[in-house]
Amino acid sequence: MQTLSDTATPNVIRREDYAPPAFLIDTVDLEFDLVPERTIVKSTLAVRRNPAAKHAAHLELMGEQLEFIGASIDGKPYEHVRTHEHGLTVENVPESFTLTLTGACDPAANTTLSGLYVSGGNFFTQCEAEGFRRITWFLDRPDVMATYTVTLRADKTAYPVLLSNGNLIAEGDLPDGRHYAKWEDPFRKPSYLFALVAGKLVALEERIQSGSGKEKLLQVWVEPHDLDKTQHAMDSLINSIRWDESRFGLELDLDRFMIVAVSDFNMGAMENKGLNIFNTKYVLANPETATDVDFANIEAVVGHEYFHNWTGNRVTCRDWFQLSLKEGLTVFRDQEFSAAMSGGDENEAARATKRIEDVRVLRQMQFAEDAGPMAHPVRPESYVEINNFYTMTVYEKGSEVVRMYQTLFGRDGFRKGMDLYFQRHDGQAVTCDDFRRAMADANGRDLAQFERWYSQAGTPRVTVATRYDEAAKRYTVTLTQGYANGSPAARETQKGPLHIPFAIGLIGANGQDLPLKLDGESAASGTTRVLEFTEAQQTFTFVDVNEKPLPSLLRNFSAPVIVEYDYAADELAFLLAHDSDPFNRWEAGQRLATRELLTLATRASQGQPLEVSQALVEAFRRVLTDASLSPSFRELALMLPSETYLAEQMAESDPAAVHAARQFVRKQLANALKAEWLAAYAQNVTPGAYEPTPEAAGHRGLKNLALSYLAELDDPADALRLASAQYDAANNMTDRAAALSALLNASAASGGDAAKRALEDFYARFENEPLVIDKWFSLQATQRGTAQRPVIDAVRALMRHPAFNLKNPNRARSLIFSFCAANPAQFHAADGSGYAFWAEQVIALDAINPQVAARLARNLELWRRFTPKLRDAMRAALEQVAKQAKSRDVREIVEKALA
Ligand code: TRP
Ligand code: ZN
Repeated sequence: MQTLSDTATPNVIRREDYAPPAFLIDTVDLEFDLVPERTIVKSTLAVRRNPAAKHAAHLELMGEQLEFIGASIDGKPYEHVRTHEHGLTVENVPESFTLTLTGACDPAANTTLSGLYVSGGNFFTQCEAEGFRRITWFLDRPDVMATYTVTLRADKTAYPVLLSNGNLIAEGDLPDGRHYAKWEDPFRKPSYLFALVAGKLVALEERIQSGSGKEKLLQVWVEPHDLDKTQHAMDSLINSIRWDESRFGLELDLDRFMIVAVSDFNMGAMENKGLNIFNTKYVLANPETATDVDFANIEAVVGHEYFHNWTGNRVTCRDWFQLSLKEGLTVFRDQEFSAAMSGGDENEAARATKRIEDVRVLRQMQFAEDAGPMAHPVRPESYVEINNFYTMTVYEKGSEVVRMYQTLFGRDGFRKGMDLYFQRHDGQAVTCDDFRRAMADANGRDLAQFERWYSQAGTPRVTVATRYDEAAKRYTVTLTQGYANGSPAARETQKGPLHIPFAIGLIGANGQDLPLKLDGESAASGTTRVLEFTEAQQTFTFVDVNEKPLPSLLRNFSAPVIVEYDYAADELAFLLAHDSDPFNRWEAGQRLATRELLTLATRASQGQPLEVSQALVEAFRRVLTDASLSPSFRELALMLPSETYLAEQMAESDPAAVHAARQFVRKQLANALKAEWLAAYAQNVTPGAYEPTPEAAGHRGLKNLALSYLAELDDPADALRLASAQYDAANNMTDRAAALSALLNASAASGGDAAKRALEDFYARFENEPLVIDKWFSLQATQRGTAQRPVIDAVRALMRHPAFNLKNPNRARSLIFSFCAANPAQFHAADGSGYAFWAEQVIALDAINPQVAARLARNLELWRRFTPKLRDAMRAALEQVAKQAKSRDVREIVEKALA
């Protein structure tokens, strides 16, 4: 078998090999004749040699899947052009010249959804990271920035709307029922931010005045039948514009800003300058079709793409190794925006809710990435296929790295750093080092050591030891940093200790925070301290500590690390009840539950009887009945850690044992707290018209969590009745989907058919709403199975359903990914049936859409951590994919997994 280390295999791109481009392109003029099977693209480029680069005789342009038609230089046909596998070489070119290239592509046949493609009869583009080269030959790299003018020509009846970046400067009719539109983007941009859209679309429009009083036209473009689902996206866009003005002083710089929704899309959304293109999932919402989570996700993604206008577009990346420069920073900005929208700037509890949700994602997904063969630093050193590096590490850990600057310097210091960053780099393509330097210089700090956060892979572990000296009233906290034994990071060269902002508080016996005074300070101040932990081991001494405190460690998750400290169970219960830091209150409950669940999982794997501690039941009872806690906090605190997360904490992952343990605990909590769950259900109904506010969503969340616990009761009759009634009466998708899910689980447990009627009703009701039918597939893919009814059978049957379509990524994700990634107990069935299915689907997708296939391929990357029997079956499935997969995308993933 060939592996990546063989020289004959795909090229590895390395960060250290960066060299500036030999040529620059100042202006780009594109003309499109849009026809689904053969679109002609004429590109006119103003090219000149780059004074900062080595001399090159030939101009090398990237191109893929293009048919060459002709070339000219300065208006005269040019013969010295060679096309090849990677693009085209223009030989012996002058110092500066105008190059015109004409070519053709086939959007109708483009199932990769990269480049120019057709979806629902309309044209769309996706250029990040390297899709522009599938439209025309170009220096398709982010450090080549140009201004663009774009002329679109198409049949007027089939494609009445013609959009591109920037401002519309001309439009009109052409012979033969065709028409045209000409767009001009005044800002220089890299090719990955180019976009066009053409087709039958309609827009919700609003006009607003930006901070400095300029009029702006905002549009949300969708297919006509979706116009009733655009208001929330529009509101989110306006809120994003306002927030970026007030928090960062950043204004919308174009007269017009457009969002377009498309149902075939590889990811969430794309920040093309002035013409953001979105997966319909992150635009379309009304109460009947979208859940509270959907509403919140739309707000976050609209914000994310809008914020890219400054962090990504005005200042972009020099090369793709710097991806986190824009993504980590923009995720941080969207997280802060969502926190503010949920009232978090005034309300600490609301802020904590958002923080908890974000940290859950980081720990479940990014920590897992760090533990496997794809582990990489926030700024990777090498890649084979850049699309494989749009990862949890680049995005979510990258955001944590940005957040640490704010934790170190405060909001004002962070703002100063941002201001300096834009002052220095507006209009440039820069690096993560440039961002760090701006933060350092604006705050008068040396951040040399902080660089390791960008270059060191792996999840750091901070071990804490404490000692109270009663006589001297001194409390010492000793922190030690390192990596887990055997983790990929520990095996690689270690760069040395990290600069870790470690927030800490000390809690007295009455549950109140103690005032904090470090040795050497003249007076106590504050109740939370951010310790700057910069050495391999460091001791911090608090003085005048009058009683033995309980430490509250890493408050608000001040750094993306694992904290190890030997809390006793009653100490965790105390923190859960009293910590003034709401994040750590939640954290204490999770530690308590995780500990117990892991013990039970081990017992289950050895076939021993299970039992739940009274302490856990009582801790849950207190949270559930504590009316001083917000419903959304209670919901998060009462949710058990996921099966996937728990399995990863085991020495050898055993999904069946984890499932047995977690289900057992859920059942015990359901039975023991039945009256409390019923009361919580009743207290949190939200009568009247649906409102997607955080408060109302919080009530629904707690109520539906109660319902899901009630569905575990030994006698599920009450739950079935509640769920059926809720399903029938629901005036919103949150309640309807939660009821359907409870019915599915309760009927799996009771062997009954209570869910059948609801499933049929759901399908019939929403047959014409693809995003809702996605939910219908995914609810069934993630349902609980039984020995008689394994879920794989239902999944295979659904693959043959007329509404299933492998070419549509949302639909593929709703069934295949949901089963493979969100139903671990069924996916990891002992007979290997899940793995065989996975291999089939990766190979099928590989031929259609390599980006989507590679995402699915990653699902087995932690195979070495499983029990021996599963491990062997997983390796066999990986080897089968390695033998058959053709794309660079999938090959990189499976070959790294097997290496
Ligand atoms: N830059 C986009 C974002 O994070 C994500 C993105 C990268 C993307 N490549 C893509 C989206 C390909 C769709 C398809 O906002
Ligand atoms: Zn982004």
